[in-house]
Amino acid sequence: MHYIMATERVLHMKGGDGETSYTKNSLLQRKVASMVKPILEDTVKRLMSNFSSERCWKVADLGCSSGPNSLFFVSNMLSIMDNVSMSINHRKPRVFQIYMNDLFGNDFNTIFKLIPDFFQRIHEEKNDNHGRCFIHATPGDFYGRLFPDDYIHFFHSSYSLHWLSQAPKSSTNIDEPLNKGNVYITNTSSPSIREAYFNQFEKNFKLFLKSRSVELKSDGVMLLTLIGRDETHKIGNPVEVIGMVLNDMVQEGLVEEKKLDFFDLPIYGATAEEVRQVIEEEGSFAIQTLRTFNIGWDANLHEDVDDSILDSKMKGEFVAKSIRAVFDPLLSVEFGEDTMDEFFTRYAKKVASLIELETLEYTNVVVSMSKVS
Ligand SMILES: C[S@@+](CC[C@H](N)C(=O)[O-])C[C@H]1O[C@@H](n2cnc3c(N)ncnc32)[C@H](O)[C@@H]1O
Repeated sequence: MHYIMATERVLHMKGGDGETSYTKNSLLQRKVASMVKPILEDTVKRLMSNFSSERCWKVADLGCSSGPNSLFFVSNMLSIMDNVSMSINHRKPRVFQIYMNDLFGNDFNTIFKLIPDFFQRIHEEKNDNHGRCFIHATPGDFYGRLFPDDYIHFFHSSYSLHWLSQAPKSSTNIDEPLNKGNVYITNTSSPSIREAYFNQFEKNFKLFLKSRSVELKSDGVMLLTLIGRDETHKIGNPVEVIGMVLNDMVQEGLVEEKKLDFFDLPIYGATAEEVRQVIEEEGSFAIQTLRTFNIGWDANLHEDVDDSILDSKMKGEFVAKSIRAVFDPLLSVEFGEDTMDEFFTRYAKKVASLIELETLEYTNVVVSMSKVS
């Protein structure tokens, strides 16, 4: 009998602050957050006009992980609120309650250790004119309830909602592999595999929207950025390369074939249209902005290096590091920790050879919405 693992039980990014940690390898996600800043600005302005006399703001970042990006979001939001207040000459003392959510296995301690420097920085920058900021942790599965009814003003989530609660399963026979020889959808996948992935995404995303709509105050807002899909891309997601490398390792007898056949990644890149369709069908939110934008897999992977001078080998290594920080814990459970060095060395080489032949980019979907009253 084959069991499908619940993501909630096994997923976490690579914790701590070592060389292979998420903290040290999440610059791409930070760059994505910078690209979304204009939409964050519009969302925060809408929030402030919806709650013009509010003093105490409750804001939650869902899927905060263990790196500094969650605090980067908070600091961007505080600056935007500050600028808006200054522009309308409307300065009132404010209090912020920030809730950082992620799954139970997340390394929250690594974020907690960044908080004193964060507080000091905002104090130095604004001399506490931002208002007082209290930070809370909310461990739990965002595909379910996290907060009391009618509680939060603003939900934010970046690069987290493409994670499914579990990989899709075969609708006919759980003992048969759904996606033999692959770990995700590829351009040769059958329509039934695509359908199974979409169905899982739809089920999860509807539950997410329903739960957030109950927890959000009337007129509350939500901003989500997730890895999406552009059907014109031959290879759209670095997880497709995970399948290629595992296949090579099966051929060489380094990975058991059955393990690959029964393993599928709990990830789905939705198109912007699919995101719109699910939001509209679920019905709790009205979409204000829905956009897509692309970013190279190798973008901004090293703070001190000008990307244009990198050769394909270096790019392959950078991409492998950023993918390892996210997928190492999950792949280790399935294929063994002692396989990981060999796996990611091969992964880097594979990306290096692919990047010479085509542009490798993520397509991201960003959606800003308000609760329908
Ligand atoms: C790639 S990280 C993104 C972290 C951060 N938002 C950033 O932009 O750097 C995705 C995070 O989503 C979390 N996540 C995935 N599924 C989740 C769920 N069902 N509930 C809560 N968090 C989840 C993962 O544990 C992971 O830490």
